[in-house]
Amino acid sequence: MQIHGLSTAPNEALVSWQGEALAVGVFSGDAGHAVRAALAQRFGAGLEHRLEQRRFKAKAGECLSFELLEGSPALLILVGLGEPEDFDLLALRQAAASISRCASNAQDLGLALPLDGQDADTAAAVISEAVRLTLFSDQRFRSESEPAARLESVTLFGMPAGAIDTAQASAAICAGVTLARELVAAPPNRATPEHLAATAGELASEHNLALQVLDAAACEALGMGAFLAVGQGSELPPRFIHLTIPPRGEVHRRVALVGKGITFDSGGYNLKTAGGQIEMMKFDMGGSAAVLGAARALAELRPEGLELHVIVASCENMISGHAVHPGDIVTAANGKTIEINNTDAEGRLTLADALVYASRLEVDTIVDLATLTGACVIALGEEIAGLWSNSDTLADALIEAGRLGGESLWRMPLRKSYKEGLKSPLADMKNTGPRSGGSITAALFLEDFVAKDIHWAHLDIAGTVWSDKPRGCDPAGATGFGVRTLVNWLLQGGAS
Ligand code: BES
Ligand code: MN
Ligand code: ZN
Repeated sequence: MQIHGLSTAPNEALVSWQGEALAVGVFSGDAGHAVRAALAQRFGAGLEHRLEQRRFKAKAGECLSFELLEGSPALLILVGLGEPEDFDLLALRQAAASISRCASNAQDLGLALPLDGQDADTAAAVISEAVRLTLFSDQRFRSESEPAARLESVTLFGMPAGAIDTAQASAAICAGVTLARELVAAPPNRATPEHLAATAGELASEHNLALQVLDAAACEALGMGAFLAVGQGSELPPRFIHLTIPPRGEVHRRVALVGKGITFDSGGYNLKTAGGQIEMMKFDMGGSAAVLGAARALAELRPEGLELHVIVASCENMISGHAVHPGDIVTAANGKTIEINNTDAEGRLTLADALVYASRLEVDTIVDLATLTGACVIALGEEIAGLWSNSDTLADALIEAGRLGGESLWRMPLRKSYKEGLKSPLADMKNTGPRSGGSITAALFLEDFVAKDIHWAHLDIAGTVWSDKPRGCDPAGATGFGVRTLVNWLLQGGAS
């Protein structure tokens, strides 16, 4: 899809627009006067009457469309923006998403949304991203696919050409989000550890990146007893994936992104039940999907001076005569022994070895993403991911990057005293503590496997990886959560 900028002011542009569809944002109350006057100039006073008939109040999220049989535009979409003082980046994203849902069957759309308070670059990026992401529809698993959206060209009124150039990064970001959504939505008989490794392989050959894929024997040689224990009950072989995006120019910062890659989490002998959402546990590789999606975007965007390592320890958590017993004691790659008192707390075991591996690359910063705990979903719900970090600057930078990308993060505490809960009578630690504060003890467990001098953040995306209904520019289903935050953060250039 092509996105263009038209520097003419939105209200003037909407009067002269000759394309197939026109979408216009309208503030409620007095703030909407100027737009309504421009609309009256274009469509006559009859439009106001129709708006009244259809009780259009221009509240945030309200959306009306009119099919006009003759001339141009053939489709008029009005979207309510609410009060100007409540209109922020998220509201802009939401408005652009509603519009592109209504306009998906037009080929050519002109879009008049106010920039109020935003700089043009940011607004252009948010709108482009919202339009592209909303149009995504996954037809891979149908025998007859539904026709794709017709929308080919979107013209943003009141946007200088320069803003549109900046917003071109949004195409790469959206390709990354799409990859993440497709990986998460793919069923567990498709998205296997080998499939994740093959996906990394495609990225590597397409963009000339370095890739190492370790099999079980190679992981064994590195002492990854925690990771291997999780996968040992499965018929599918585990894969440890390490993809490297080399720096453009001199290295300024070295970052590792680590993603949980459990392609199916049955719980193991601490078996999940239907109430524990066992049928959804294909999404337990959402962290790995996010880091691979980010890699896809960044391989294209290549921020200057960034050396990026993308690491995924992928396997299935299954039951068989070979599976881990509750009570087994294993040794991670850093020599720490872990008593597995619950086989369903498998993600942290795989991440432990991945974090040790990442620490040994001597990176400045590690960010891990994981659908780690049900407790995080209870705490923050499905719209907000939990964030734990040993660095205030890193935490703030990630929260801001998430805000730009429409992904909400909420910082949670690394309360040292809660580590008591992970004490084992036999081994160095247990893999689970008490039920209360479960997402915090999970984060504290991970922290033990990160080298002390590294800035580290952990994102628990258990609630945000999947959505039962469309929300913002995410369709129902896999959201691709994390890609926008990671890419925005790495494009902003802060080392931590
Ligand atoms: N993959 C799950 C976490 C999860 C649960 C994600 C529900 C999304 C929805 C993880 O491996 C898990 O099972 N965690 C356990 C930990 C517990 C045994 C300490 C949990 O949260 O119940
Ligand atoms: Mn589990
Ligand atoms: Zn899991």
